[in-house]
Amino acid sequence: MKPLNILLIGNGGREHALAWKIKQSSICGTLYTAPGNAGTAALAQNLQLAVDDFEKLGLFCKQNDIELVVVGPELPLVKGLRDYFEGDPDLKKIPLVGPGKAGARLEGSKDFSKQFMLRHHIPTAKSKTFHTGETEQALAYINQCKAPIVLKADGLAAGKGVIITEDKEEAGREITAMLSGDKFGEAGKKVLIEEFLKGIELSVFVLTDGTHYVILPEAKDYKRIGDGDTGPNTGGMGAVSPVAFADMAFMQKVEERVIKPTIRGLRQEGIDYRGFIFIGLMNVGGNPYVIEYNVRMGDPETQVVMPRIKNDLVELLFAAATGNMKNHTIEIDQQCAVTVVMASGGYPGDFEKGKVISGLNTINDALVFHAGTKTEFNNVLTNGGRVLTITGMNKDIATARQKAYAGVARLNWEGVYFRKDIGLDLLTYQKIN
Ligand code: AMP
Ligand code: GLY
Repeated sequence: MKPLNILLIGNGGREHALAWKIKQSSICGTLYTAPGNAGTAALAQNLQLAVDDFEKLGLFCKQNDIELVVVGPELPLVKGLRDYFEGDPDLKKIPLVGPGKAGARLEGSKDFSKQFMLRHHIPTAKSKTFHTGETEQALAYINQCKAPIVLKADGLAAGKGVIITEDKEEAGREITAMLSGDKFGEAGKKVLIEEFLKGIELSVFVLTDGTHYVILPEAKDYKRIGDGDTGPNTGGMGAVSPVAFADMAFMQKVEERVIKPTIRGLRQEGIDYRGFIFIGLMNVGGNPYVIEYNVRMGDPETQVVMPRIKNDLVELLFAAATGNMKNHTIEIDQQCAVTVVMASGGYPGDFEKGKVISGLNTINDALVFHAGTKTEFNNVLTNGGRVLTITGMNKDIATARQKAYAGVARLNWEGVYFRKDIGLDLLTYQKIN
């Protein structure tokens, strides 16, 4: 196959990891990232284009002979990037990885995804949806629920739309603020009150052409800011793959009870889904329950998933985008991968940008993926909350951790913060078993 000119949309650690893997493909022609970061700039040509500026992205594709588009973040998908491309006679010919607006509702509307799971008998937490104007009914319902109470804003809320609390009064205040539109605006005007699932969490990733699929390596994310899973939620402070408790028997249940009915369900509903499905799962006593769907890869999960895929990624992406996944199988590296996110001090609250990062050229035994970075006068500067993710790999998780943290120790900037316990729980888990 002749090399393809590829446009990758996004600017996080996820996109740097995707660019890194795409660049290794024998069929990668010219690679562009829109807008990218200081990390992708070393592998691809960064474009000053916003991820949801459909017109400019489309124009760029037409003028630069783009032959494959890969969408990293959810925002352009939920806003209908695929639909925009499909509505243009030239752009619709370009294979694109990522669902249209209809499929993206799996992430863009928690109510839609809950009803979808119920329609297709996919195991998930019980829940009830309340709309603006139903605050009283919602408060009465909370009163009869058992704590902890799980509240979920229906729409996209920058990863902050889920509130879990033991305190029913707090739950009442939160849902009142959401339903009135004061918190999360439109995204919070519909709220799900969900049963709390007690178990261990993990994420499973699927790449599909709408009919056939491959299951990528699973991962565990560390969402809270503080060691020992304390403090506020973040986009993710680290990740590990594989996940020791996701053994073959469990993964078989995931495939039969969750993945197959999800793909079948999308097809039955007339949704032509080509792209990634990220399934957030709770392992409750050995059985999988879906917590959420995302219509993209995870960040920082991608930074441990990509290094474990042995396939040529562009072949898989192109097959998914063109409806040709049938004869593809996934080849997975048996090594463990551990990634540690290095963040700006203050994240996920307020933080400063523009700090000079030192040590970037001293790492030789770990992968360095950039998230919020930019280059200025030959310096790499911090430019976001999550700044770098450092991935260590080895056949045992303990050494993979050591390699990641040895990399972290060589990097520095004013106010740098990272968790010290990424992967620690899985180390103990492996020992017990
Ligand atoms: P999300 O923003 O949808 O990723 O949810 C944030 C986190 O809330 C998840 O990663 C879970 O840890 C937790 N969570 C969501 N739903 C439930 C549930 N029904 N039971 C227990 N934990 C949940
Ligand atoms: N790390 C979680 C996410 O990407 O949604």
